[in-house]
Amino acid sequence: MWLPAAVRERVAAVHGGAALPERLRQYDGWAARYEQDVAALEYRAPHLAAASLSFVFPAPPAGARLLDVACGTGLVARELHRRGFRCLHGVDGSAGMLEQARSTGLYRQLQRCVLGQEPLPVPPGGFLCLTTRSNPSNLQYKAELEAVLEKLERQGAWQKVLAQEVERWERATSEEESTQGTGYISGVVYIYRKCPVPPLEEG
Ligand SMILES: C[S@@+](CC[C@H](N)C(=O)[O-])C[C@H]1O[C@@H](n2cnc3c(N)ncnc32)[C@H](O)[C@@H]1O
Repeated sequence: MWLPAAVRERVAAVHGGAALPERLRQYDGWAARYEQDVAALEYRAPHLAAASLSFVFPAPPAGARLLDVACGTGLVARELHRRGFRCLHGVDGSAGMLEQARSTGLYRQLQRCVLGQEPLPVPPGGFLCLTTRSNPSNLQYKAELEAVLEKLERQGAWQKVLAQEVERWERATSEEESTQGTGYISGVVYIYRKCPVPPLEEG
């Protein structure tokens, strides 16, 4: 299958496993072209995340509060908006990606937050969603994200609802990254629910 060389190079650079500050700078630089490049990759994560959220949220979804973690340019919000969700908040570590997300007009609030270094904003509660790739070069980063999520769970702040591995997440940029020669990589959708704040003990 044909992937334009320029797209392959841009995607492979960001997937190269750089340390976090450099990775976020790469996203800043990629933000303006991100959506057209991921369309070429047949990127399905936003659709898959929205489908999982529709499944776990009670209907109607309009008032359901959702924190879109690592929201990027807002592709998950677009999918959710189509499904009737209206109370969306987003965080991302890249100012460039946040700027694109802001231009969608779909989020009530957007905030810069580097996961693993800064606490997640506690409001709006409700649910959070996060997605990441499971291809070889992302496994270390994926493990770091999972460690952050597990810590939130240990602290009693958030409770895991699902962590769903999905095949054919997006097209692979190389044979080495591809899952068993399929030409695609896999990924994972995480959904967590905010734990209620325990009542203050009297006395
Ligand atoms: C592959 S994009 C996904 C964006 C969006 N969720 C989507 O599906 O289009 C990954 C996003 O995660 C953000 N990101 C990566 N590491 C992060 C971190 N540690 N904290 C916050 N955002 C991070 C990047 O800036 C980027 O916007």
